[in-house]
Amino acid sequence: MPATEPEKGATEPQKGNLHDLKVNYLWALRLAWSVCPRLVTARAGVHLVQSLVPALVLLNTRQIIVAIYDALTAVDKLPGKTGDLDEAMLWLLTLPALAVIDAMCGFVGGYLGARLGEELNLKINIQILEQAARLDLAFFEDPQQQDLLARAQRNAAQHCARLMNSLLHMANVLLQTGAFVVIVLLIEPWTAPALVALGIPYLLFQWRMSKTQYWIEHNRTTRRRWSRYFTTRLTKHAFVPEVKLLDLAPLLINKFKGLLERFRDENMWLQRRRLVGNVIFGVLATVMIYGLFTRVIFRAVEGGDAAPELGTVVIFLPALAKVYDMMNQLVRIASGTMHTTMMISNLRELTLAQPAAPDNGQITPATAHGEIVFEHVSFTYPASGKHHEPVLRDVSFSIGAGEKVALVGANGAGKTTIVKLLGRLYKPDAGRILFDGHDVADLSRTYLNQQISFVLQAFGRYEATAGENIAYGDWRRLMDDPDELRRIAQDAGVDQMIEQFPDGYDTVLGRMFGDFTLSGGQWQQLALARALARNPKLLVLDEPTSNLDARAEYELFEQSRRLARDRTTIIISHRFSTVRMADRIIVLEQGQVVEQGTHEQLQSARGHYASLYELHTRSLTD
Ligand SMILES: Nc1ncnc2c1ncn2[C@@H]1O[C@H](COP(=O)(O)OP(=O)(O)OP(=O)(O)O)[C@@H](O)[C@H]1O
Ligand SMILES: [Mg+2]
Repeated sequence: MPATEPEKGATEPQKGNLHDLKVNYLWALRLAWSVCPRLVTARAGVHLVQSLVPALVLLNTRQIIVAIYDALTAVDKLPGKTGDLDEAMLWLLTLPALAVIDAMCGFVGGYLGARLGEELNLKINIQILEQAARLDLAFFEDPQQQDLLARAQRNAAQHCARLMNSLLHMANVLLQTGAFVVIVLLIEPWTAPALVALGIPYLLFQWRMSKTQYWIEHNRTTRRRWSRYFTTRLTKHAFVPEVKLLDLAPLLINKFKGLLERFRDENMWLQRRRLVGNVIFGVLATVMIYGLFTRVIFRAVEGGDAAPELGTVVIFLPALAKVYDMMNQLVRIASGTMHTTMMISNLRELTLAQPAAPDNGQITPATAHGEIVFEHVSFTYPASGKHHEPVLRDVSFSIGAGEKVALVGANGAGKTTIVKLLGRLYKPDAGRILFDGHDVADLSRTYLNQQISFVLQAFGRYEATAGENIAYGDWRRLMDDPDELRRIAQDAGVDQMIEQFPDGYDTVLGRMFGDFTLSGGQWQQLALARALARNPKLLVLDEPTSNLDARAEYELFEQSRRLARDRTTIIISHRFSTVRMADRIIVLEQGQVVEQGTHEQLQSARGHYASLYELHTRSLTD
């Protein structure tokens, strides 16, 4: 079963070169800056102050040692007495002051960082959803784009906040390192070549490790989606009954386990390489530090003009150790930043994604009639993988204002596709779809939504109150108008049903948060009421009676005729009792219109419709 193997379908890795890194880096910084420039500036200020503290502590320590040494070795000191320690005491007082400044900077910096993280979290998560709302349906049906969406959503905000923090941290550590490097170079010039010889290979090693880590994560996006899929199948209420009845759990758990084991193995492979590298560089650094320290001691003992004083010798070792520690930190921050920046590239890529067909029609006619014309429409699904066959081929038909038309055809004939094109969820490859003589592509989205209502085959079941489930049909108007909402419910024939729910219109429906669940037919009736909420000129019903009992179905038709004689209605159904009530029937076969006419006309034509009908009646009588 190759198609269901989670290992398949990983997306191709892209280049992760320096240019990409720079572009992504600047983009993320601009984003953080745009969220709150004052916060970023304050954070940077606090970091700047904090970064100067360690070097000041070290220099003051040297002054204390020098002052104590001078006092102890003063020539005019009386036997048995110590010399003047006032200077040493003064220097000593600066240390607690610096410690307080350091601690305060830590607290305030932490607070500002958390605040920045929160603001970024808010902005980025909303930005992702707004962008998702802007993209068209085709985007969500393309597995590669789904991977991108999943990667972008994965801790996007944390990555941005982390990048900001890392940058400030890096500036902080760079300043500190700079100060300490100046100190150690002044004491021992040979430190410079030693630092270069060890630092550059170490940097390259860490760079490589972060790049590998990014690609491991990148290439497992599809597998991550698979693992989420298995988890949902095994834990989501809607899937549990069938999983239990088919006893699928062991099979699915096994596939899930396979994925987790692969994740573990990949992670551990990287960890092993990190371990080896870190051990080697750690040993080399220790040798370097103690080698240089020994040299400083020898120089001090040898004496002479350039010989270091005792205080200088004492601070050299901690200063050099600090340089090594800082370098380590720098490398870790830099490689972490690189990884973060690469993760952010997904967010950037997502925000740059454009809808395949721009949804920017402008025309808003003054009056609507509800006349529909399909002119030589052909269409192939954009993300149909290997099966790149047209789903609709040269489809032409027209529906007059107020006409009630049924679309009939076998499963997969293309009926729902026609509905989606009518709602401009996709753009036809060829031909035009006209609403009252205007190409639907040219009509404004608001106008189109106002004039056409749909009850889709896969209609929504909203986790919301019964009232809201209807109000969503025209929420701007109805969310705060319970009287109008009730009138719509009455017209749609669902008022009595809702009154019987435990809290009437306020009953929270659904399984996730609600306390009351409806039957398929009841949900469908609500969906119908929702579609009627806008009082549309054209009502499109994709198998609206599939969940309805015979009585509900009859009432639906009676009502739709009575309520809106001038409303154009397109109904898709496999039920002939429904279909024959239509003014006209359009028959589709494999994406083409093959017949049109009334039930009687098509019967006597003895074509495709007549044979479908005959099959149907025979199945009823057999
Ligand atoms: N999102 C999609 N991406 C790719 N192909 C699709 C997509 N949706 C449908 N198809 C393909 O388009 C064809 C027509 O599908 P459509 O849903 O329009 O059929 P239908 O006539 O509504 O069938 P049914 O009676 O089962 O609802 C099918 O062969 C299907 O494989
Ligand atoms: Mg369908």
